[in-house]
Amino acid sequence: MSTKQFDIAVIGGDGIGPEVVAEARKVLDAALADQDAQLTYTEYSLGTEHWLATGETLRDETLQKLRGHDAILFGAVGADPQDERIPSGLIERDLLLKLRFELDHSINLRPVRTYPGVATPLASEEDFDFVVVREGTEGPYVGNGGTLRRATPQEIATEVSVNTAHGVSRVVADAFGRAESRRGHLTLVHKHNVLTHAGDLWRRTVEAEAAKHPQVSWDYMHVDAATIHMVANPQRFDVIVTDNLFGDILTDLAGAVSGGIGLAPSASINQEASAPSMFEPVHGSAPDIAGQQIADPSAAVLSAALMLNHLGLSSAAARIESAVHDQLREWARSQTGHGLSTAQRGDAFVSRLTPAAVS
Ligand code: NAI
Ligand code: MG
Repeated sequence: MSTKQFDIAVIGGDGIGPEVVAEARKVLDAALADQDAQLTYTEYSLGTEHWLATGETLRDETLQKLRGHDAILFGAVGADPQDERIPSGLIERDLLLKLRFELDHSINLRPVRTYPGVATPLASEEDFDFVVVREGTEGPYVGNGGTLRRATPQEIATEVSVNTAHGVSRVVADAFGRAESRRGHLTLVHKHNVLTHAGDLWRRTVEAEAAKHPQVSWDYMHVDAATIHMVANPQRFDVIVTDNLFGDILTDLAGAVSGGIGLAPSASINQEASAPSMFEPVHGSAPDIAGQQIADPSAAVLSAALMLNHLGLSSAAARIESAVHDQLREWARSQTGHGLSTAQRGDAFVSRLTPAAVS
């Protein structure tokens, strides 16, 4: 059988980004060592330091090169907010958001779960496991708005939420597909009592898709109620589908209730495969701990597992997830996880994936 080759772009970025991505690569290579698939990596130097050195956020030719890869493994970007050498948010907008829009990342996927031995801020210790399918290219984030009479008492500012039948239906179809292969339940989160036009499109789209998936049950929840349920009984969720803005806010809450920013993975998916999808931890560049080798690489490693799943290498992905879960459980049991370096954590995951660990 010929070995499948996948050509991966790696953007470590700023702060802890390169530190955690290095561990993700180690784990990927270990998981694929005995498989008929191989990853080759091309490193791209992008982010704050790159901008300071070159003035480039993302040149067209760099974007073109990125388009040629099978997937992008991304660390994190963003300067220390105290750093006055760079305008606040420049890199996030002109690199990260630009990538998501240019590469048509229609789905922002965020799996949310409890992890073995990892405490959550919730009173209940009952496990939960759900996934948020957030629309990634529309809503109020498209820049459809403007200002008139700025800085006068008559100032007008608009920020129009764009919702297209195409954009909503492709995300809803994906979410139903995921519900089908999970526990068979989907929750549409919106605010259709007030946002009646967009809400109506989302609701009708879900109803139409539901008819094609009789085995999936679904319900509707206003976004404000969803914040209550996510804290009070997150077990009720299986797949949540929602728009860009609600998804942004809900997934931060979801990350918080799941017990740690160092654990939360994400994927920005191009559904039509017209450009590479991107896999990245939810966390940022953490300037407060950068360069100290104390960042938790778990979120980057779990994002790498999402990448393997996307590339069709689901058994290797599942092995990575088990390795992380088993190791977290072991650290909690033996109380030995504290004080380990980023690389030591990566090595521990790797050791669970190498053949010697099986004996
Ligand atoms: P952050 O996620 O970088 O850090 C928040 C807190 O969590 C910090 O105390 C940090 O030390 C801790 N933390 C984050 N990841 C961790 C890990 N793997 N292990 C252990 N602790 C971890 O968010 P913050 O501080 O708001 O933003 C820092 C920079 O990152 C800013 O420039 C921001 O714009 C950018 N950012 C970038 C994102 C991305 O590239 N996707 C996402 C969020 C923020
Ligand atoms: Mg956010």
